[in-house]
Amino acid sequence: MRSETPREKQQRHRRRGPDADGSASYHRGDAGANGRELVLGLSSGTSMDGIDAALVDFGEGEAGGIDLLAFRMQEYPQALRSALASCCRGGDCADVARLDVAIGEAFAAAALDLLASAGREPADVCCIGSHGQTLIHLPQAEEIGGMRVSATLQIGELSVIAERTGITTVGDFRTRDMAAGGQGAPLVPILDHEMLTHPERGRVALNLGGIANVTGLPAGGSLADLLAFDTGPANVLLDAAARRHQLEGGIDEGGALAMTGAPDPELLETLMTHPFFERRPPKSADLRIVSGDYAERCWEEAADLSTADLLRTLAELTARTVADGIDRYISPRQAIDEIVVSGGGAHNAAVMSAVRTHLPDARVLTVDQVSSIPGDAKEAVLFAYLGHLALAGRCGNVPSATGAERAAVLGKIVPGW
Ligand SMILES: Nc1ncnc2c1ncn2[C@@H]1O[C@H](COP(=O)(O)OP(=O)(O)O)[C@@H](O)[C@H]1O
Ligand SMILES: [Mg+2]
Repeated sequence: MRSETPREKQQRHRRRGPDADGSASYHRGDAGANGRELVLGLSSGTSMDGIDAALVDFGEGEAGGIDLLAFRMQEYPQALRSALASCCRGGDCADVARLDVAIGEAFAAAALDLLASAGREPADVCCIGSHGQTLIHLPQAEEIGGMRVSATLQIGELSVIAERTGITTVGDFRTRDMAAGGQGAPLVPILDHEMLTHPERGRVALNLGGIANVTGLPAGGSLADLLAFDTGPANVLLDAAARRHQLEGGIDEGGALAMTGAPDPELLETLMTHPFFERRPPKSADLRIVSGDYAERCWEEAADLSTADLLRTLAELTARTVADGIDRYISPRQAIDEIVVSGGGAHNAAVMSAVRTHLPDARVLTVDQVSSIPGDAKEAVLFAYLGHLALAGRCGNVPSATGAERAAVLGKIVPGW
């Protein structure tokens, strides 16, 4: 007998589900049943290391009603990663169009894999919130065709994800905020506020992805109090250096090699001259802030340094620019008792040690120490949250952070089947 295809299996399952009368325009899984509302979040950050997938219950839960049921990071296959890198270096429209679909396929597979490993069916899930993969982020308005526009491009075709999974898929969250005059980033403040605001302690949420971003969270503060912005590179230069020096696995695992080196003051001064560091918030960035001449100068000046000293210098750059941003823009507005760190950089001892040195008055903790949601899962949880908010018709951006003229419902919705 012919075996059932995944689609047939889902349809069979769905016929048994709460939408058995076939009347719903999109499947709502077991939303409402037992107070559960399962949403699947998908994201890949600027590091382009792989796809983070989180299955989240927004019905009842600990961290502000957010309960993480399952999380996986699925590394990109090397061929896809190389295609992304070469597209970013100089791909044409055909490359972008094809990669959009390929990344959509990879995201859909990651969603189905997560569900399988969690013992769930697509029919259990209300929606997918997918950030996609950023190819380019251009928040500074420039002229094209007689118009001045800012723009951003996250690929990972939503229609492909909805078609492969059958699940209503929400994505492309940044563009609405940008249409409302914002930077389209950072989007994480709404989740930081929900997850990490403390009634008595002032906090800063620090995410160390390819790029670093901070969210100031005054004790007991409201959404309108929030300031958040990108501070500059976190892992992007460290990863580039690790690749140039052919470190095994492409990263300095745990920051172990960097810990044996010393920062080079001259290289650090050169790197600190990047104009991004002087810009006032709202501000956001992508990998290109460290491409071209800036990176070339870095590698030239580092030619005589040991790998360990170079990595330590780049760890120091991350920490110094994070601390500068916090000291300049967040400290004047709120007390800071704790810095709560998430993202891959939290695993780098050299970066964490330098952050502690440069922010001596605050306790530096990881998200895992203060929340039931692990720091590595935070971004995927964010995009589940934004999907959940969009379907509920609730706003997802924080205008004081992005600079948008108003709060808006973010995202585009592709119905499932
Ligand atoms: N165990 C580790 N040791 C050192 N660095 C790590 C480790 N795990 C992750 N990283 C760093 O974190 C980066 C990925 O961080 P992530 O938060 O996923 O960033 P993004 O959101 O940009 O994808 C990796 O490219 C690497 O530089
Ligand atoms: Mg990542």
